[in-house]
Amino acid sequence: MAYSAKIGPSILSSDLSCLGSECVRMMECGADYLHLDVMDGHFVPNITFGHPMVECLRKSVGQDPFFDMHMMVSRPEQWVKPMAAAGANQYTFHLEATTNPGNLIKEIRESGMKVGLAIKPGTTVEELAPWANEIDMALVMTVEPGFGGQKFMEDMMPKVSWLRSQFPSLDIEVDGGVGPDSIHKCAEAGANMIVSGSAVIGSDDPRSVIALLRTVVAEAIQKRSLDR
Ligand code: DX5
Ligand code: ZN
Repeated sequence: MAYSAKIGPSILSSDLSCLGSECVRMMECGADYLHLDVMDGHFVPNITFGHPMVECLRKSVGQDPFFDMHMMVSRPEQWVKPMAAAGANQYTFHLEATTNPGNLIKEIRESGMKVGLAIKPGTTVEELAPWANEIDMALVMTVEPGFGGQKFMEDMMPKVSWLRSQFPSLDIEVDGGVGPDSIHKCAEAGANMIVSGSAVIGSDDPRSVIALLRTVVAEAIQKRSLDR
């Protein structure tokens, strides 16, 4: 089985005035990667930061941390090159934001980044399926994108299960309301890349929360491999 359990804190709910040290703190607490939420105020009703911030973060935290850019933006095509130059490792765009996913996937690869493809709660997994063999990761949103701290949508889990059954070695990420209360559902459905914002950042003990999330997912992966 090609995939493994990875935990990526979303730093959206951290103290944004100390983003660099917050990222370092998350890596020191055992994060496998960092999930960075880019919002443009058009695709979602909120605004965060863009590639200049990512460039500064990269300089501040060094080459090691893997930056998964969650691009909640209209016209995702326009930020591929700037994000690659800023030091992004993976460019996760929304299927709803583009009319030509095939071309965008190609551009992301040519710029040297991995490709993530995200779907909002209202988008079916069948719409993502035609691209699944061309991407590195599928992101199934478990809240409406735009804000941290929302309630986990358990009714998104059939999408994850279906993807896992059809694409056994694909990295599948969940994002939104994921924490100790919802991780079992995600793990059982087959997600292996876990984004967690408020549950990790808001905890007094982020290290334990990250370890717990990873253990639950790793056990589910092991169980699935034994059942095969
Ligand atoms: C929401 C973002 C998420 C968010 C997750 O649009 O994509 O990454 O920060 O935060 P929690 O885990 O608090 O829902
Ligand atoms: Zn996100």
